[in-house]
Amino acid sequence: MNETLKAIENRYSCRDFKPEMLSEEVLQAIAKAAVQAPSAMNRQPWRIVVVKDQELMQEIEQEGLKTLSDMEDKSAYNRIMERGGKLFYGAPSMIVVPIDSAEYASAMLDCGIVCQNIVLAAESLGVGSVICGLLRTAFAKEERAKEWAARLKFPEGYVLGCSVLLGYANTSKQPHEPDIEKIVVLE
Ligand SMILES: Cc1cc2nc3c(=O)[nH]c(=O)nc-3n(C[C@H](O)[C@H](O)[C@H](O)COP(=O)(O)O)c2cc1C
Repeated sequence: MNETLKAIENRYSCRDFKPEMLSEEVLQAIAKAAVQAPSAMNRQPWRIVVVKDQELMQEIEQEGLKTLSDMEDKSAYNRIMERGGKLFYGAPSMIVVPIDSAEYASAMLDCGIVCQNIVLAAESLGVGSVICGLLRTAFAKEERAKEWAARLKFPEGYVLGCSVLLGYANTSKQPHEPDIEKIVVLE
């Protein structure tokens, strides 16, 4: 099996990180893989915000947890609590991907592809990762969303797309069992 297929096969969502910060070189390599993603009409409707600021991450995490705990439906909050009560699982860094909202559906799809490039690049470098859609909980209130967008240096008019938590895994996990039954071949 080649290295690309190995990275795809071995990647898993890491939910327990070591506090050790990734080197600048490693983060740059992952960020470069992000901007190499394909996008509809090559619009590249994204920014790649590499966040190493622990204080900012903690503030955002607290806001997200508060949103989840205030929600009537407690299922997401309870799931996070069962996993140790951390939205960011102790990750020392994250990449936030804001998108321009000109063509939202296509920009979101492009953003997903960026996230996949990030997690595969991370895997290839021995770095743990998990896509963190729940970052949106910190953006639930309009005023707070504006504050985070400013502090995360989103360009004017950009909105949150998604994010990926990055760091070295403290504990490892098996990748999920692929469901081969989902593949349909027409001959
Ligand atoms: C769009 C998207 C958003 C996700 N958001 C979260 C999240 O907020 N928190 C989390 O722990 N995992 C999140 N995940 C990870 C999924 O739960 C995970 O990919 C899935 O359970 C399969 O497990 P695996 O990644 O280990 O194969 C997200 C995945 C995707 C694709």
